Amino acid sequence: MSQTEVTILKALLAAGDAFVSGSELAKELGISRVAVWSRLEKLRAAGFVFDAVRHRGYRLVREPDRLSETLVRAHLDLVGAGKTRLFVLPTVDSTNSEAERRLADATETPFAVLAGAQTRGRGRLGRTWHSPPEGNLYMSFAFRPHRGAGRMQTITLRLGLAICRFLREKHGVPVKVKWPNDLVIGGKKAAGMLTEARVDADRMRDLVFGIGINVLGDTSGWPRDVASMATALAPHATEPILLNKLAADLIPLVSAEYAEFMENPHKEGFAEEWKAIDALHGRAVNTRQGNTSLRGTARGIDGDGNLLIEKTDGKLAAVHSGEVSIGTGAVLF
Ligand code: BTN
Repeated sequence: MSQTEVTILKALLAAGDAFVSGSELAKELGISRVAVWSRLEKLRAAGFVFDAVRHRGYRLVREPDRLSETLVRAHLDLVGAGKTRLFVLPTVDSTNSEAERRLADATETPFAVLAGAQTRGRGRLGRTWHSPPEGNLYMSFAFRPHRGAGRMQTITLRLGLAICRFLREKHGVPVKVKWPNDLVIGGKKAAGMLTEARVDADRMRDLVFGIGINVLGDTSGWPRDVASMATALAPHATEPILLNKLAADLIPLVSAEYAEFMENPHKEGFAEEWKAIDALHGRAVNTRQGNTSLRGTARGIDGDGNLLIEKTDGKLAAVHSGEVSIGTGAVLF
């Protein structure tokens, strides 16, 4: 990744639909106009589309649908988050695993790991997360909380809710939270979260929050069983979604929500906020944890993030972990 290209993209992004003069860019960067042109050619080869008009300059017409470190950094710089510690890889086994390796190597936290594709993307309960190279985001955020593990119990729900609200508010996506770790649209999964922690004597040393988001929606090459249960954000959005801009929006959002969580893990009104966009609320559900299953009606979450199930006898049960299916049939997600 070159800082010169980040600067060029920043200028083009800031200009929006307007043209940016090649000679001004060259002056700002202390390079020749030909050098500016050749950088733009390099970006073109990476999927960017520019208009180039004599005596007017350049304009960015289209961003690539693949992860671009240069573009994520340019977007981050523009929102004042250019100093974020970030590792962007074209491909990796799993961004969660990479974050764990970097934590073990004493990398300073917080940091984020993003990858264009994953060869061994991991889901909950030992599942695989299908991670092809185009149209999706794979990101992990690493922290060292140094707090009691019990205090961190609801972190995935808090981060998931914050991301869900952002997608609804900024992009008009009718996405909902599905306890404990999914974002769904119309019953299909658009994103999954995987939080992994290392705990020493009840103190949480490391925490990795990973999220995979189906952003652009071409599921044609996906395995059939995955494609039938999955959806993506963009086809449901009322405002356009750009993959790299979304990554750059979510990085500071997750960092800010984490910081707020550390200040205030038991946020007042959280259960109510959850209820407003809870995909399970009032639905007949079947929860399963190991060999134990429970049927009833989902009634939101309690202050500790447990799923509340109203059983057939009318009593409430709090489910701490496991998975949930809607209806009485097989597991949906
Ligand atoms: C699930 O729904 O089971 C959780 C899926 C989590 C997938 C993300 S993609 C980025 C990060 N790296 C991984 O290997 N998994 C998480």
